[in-house]
Amino acid sequence: MLVRKINYFRLLGTRLSSSHYVTTPIFYVNAAPHIGHLYSAVIADAHCRYQRLRYPDSNVRLCTGTDEHGTKIQQAAATHKVPVAQYCDEISERYRHVFGLAGIAHDDFIRTTEQRHKEAVAHFWQRLQARGHIYSAAYSGWYCVSDETFLTDSQLRLDESSGIRHSLESGHPVEWTEETNYMFRLSQFQDDVRHWVQQEARIRPAKFEKILLDTLSEQLPDVSVSRPSNRVHWAIPVPNDETQTVYVWLDALINYLSSLGYPNEQYLAHWPPAQQIIGKDILKFHGIYWPAFLIAAGLEPPRQLYVHSHWTVDGQKMSKSKHNVVDPLQAAQQYTMEGLRYFLLREGVAHSDGNFSHVKALRILNSELADTLGNLLSRACAKTLNPQQIYPSPHVEHLTALLQELDAAKRLQELLLQLAARCEEHYECNHFHLVADTTIATLHAANNFFECAKPWELKPGGKAPNAPRLQTIIAITMDALRLCAIVLQPMIPQLTSQLLNKLTVPSSQRSWQHLCLSSASSSSSSSSHSRQLDEQSNALLFQRIVEQQDKSTQQKQQQQQLPGKAKKQRKATVKANS
Ligand code: MSP
Repeated sequence: MLVRKINYFRLLGTRLSSSHYVTTPIFYVNAAPHIGHLYSAVIADAHCRYQRLRYPDSNVRLCTGTDEHGTKIQQAAATHKVPVAQYCDEISERYRHVFGLAGIAHDDFIRTTEQRHKEAVAHFWQRLQARGHIYSAAYSGWYCVSDETFLTDSQLRLDESSGIRHSLESGHPVEWTEETNYMFRLSQFQDDVRHWVQQEARIRPAKFEKILLDTLSEQLPDVSVSRPSNRVHWAIPVPNDETQTVYVWLDALINYLSSLGYPNEQYLAHWPPAQQIIGKDILKFHGIYWPAFLIAAGLEPPRQLYVHSHWTVDGQKMSKSKHNVVDPLQAAQQYTMEGLRYFLLREGVAHSDGNFSHVKALRILNSELADTLGNLLSRACAKTLNPQQIYPSPHVEHLTALLQELDAAKRLQELLLQLAARCEEHYECNHFHLVADTTIATLHAANNFFECAKPWELKPGGKAPNAPRLQTIIAITMDALRLCAIVLQPMIPQLTSQLLNKLTVPSSQRSWQHLCLSSASSSSSSSSHSRQLDEQSNALLFQRIVEQQDKSTQQKQQQQQLPGKAKKQRKATVKANS
């Protein structure tokens, strides 16, 4: 009971403290970014955008960057016959570029080859050493270059035919290594790490907590934290011992501190991280080594590790040898970057692997972003129904009448009233797929309301012209769009900004507290007066993606039948996709 109480206050403290420091893993520069890497960054970005939206007073900070030392990078540069430093610059820049295009709003992009990082590593090392947690020893074991880690016999698989051992988890080959290293007394931190892991909501999703506790149920061995410089020269030298370089994982983990200016005390303004986003393959490093290193150095470990699973492609693990690695830049040409962000967050779930399939991406983006969200905006802004191009305010008597007459109106209002609370619950757990589910269900209801209300019958020259009722229908529809766009901002920031611009919703009225219905509460209304739509913003939000094959068949048919019209349409498609 007492423990629960303490946890409650701790959580409360987390929410009340103004700093909210979030990190992505730093990415190896041995190869170009793929959608799996982008996924880690997009989760972190959407998480931070939500935090800023929901808690405008909190001091949110997002750090990402590149991991540039070690044998793996040395070898990749050699293979490409490029000097290592230049190789690192090039790949690091590609990460920056992709993240820029994907709207990853990071506050810092750290590179482990930077001087500020090297100084932080040296300081951290000396602290561990001064506290007696590092010793020198002869060490031998199986080293996996690709995973940059020593593995125990139980973590290996022997290929009988070739006699080569591979890492059970990653499948990469290992090599026998005998050397003198510095060791870290990990074995002494077993209880501390277990205690840390067991705190409420420390590791999410819970299945990864269980994996860590299983690992911790066996005695932890001490770990090697340096390699001989003559073997691994592209690394940070061990302070006061030029013959050794710092183990790449210790080096890499310290980026989370060096980004904050550690060892300068200013780092304390953000320490410890509120949430560290990582993929499942690097759980051991973040869930065991990292808290142990920090506790050993007298620092507080992170408040939460959020672990996501991996993307496969058409059911297969992504790998260079299978030629199935999905390049985010190429994918964005087909789906747009916002489309790709949406797909990753909408389709990925943290607790199990997601399958990246073109067919699925097409289906989701077309049905949700084009047909459900985009189409509703186009319809509400169509000049035939909305010749004055306004975001009208509802007429109370028509609003009441619509709610009484149409089940679809009642249903929509119910969903809109629940939208903020439901999505808040999902965002708090990084359940972006559920935010999308909830919002898209609301937009389906809005489309259904629009259909049932038949606004086209109310326009001048229609079956039953009625301008105030028509305005009210458009007002309700635009309110639904406005609220759904506010909610979706963390997931698709550019599309929602375009939509809110079109509706001329001022930037100061796009935060979580503005998630109230103008038609439900007049006092909080942000659209209590009709206002002009923004003519400059395009009402065509997301162009349906047409398969290349379908497109050319379609175009051929059109050319044969109606040459003039087809030409015009072809132009329109090219423009919309560019
Ligand atoms: N450099 C280390 C991390 C050091 S952090 C102190 C590293 N880099 S990585 O480039 O290999 O991976 C970075 C992130 O990308 C990890 O979170 C990893 O899980 C993620 N992904 C790599 N492949 C992935 C998929 N196929 N799917 C989803 N995420 C994937 O590890």
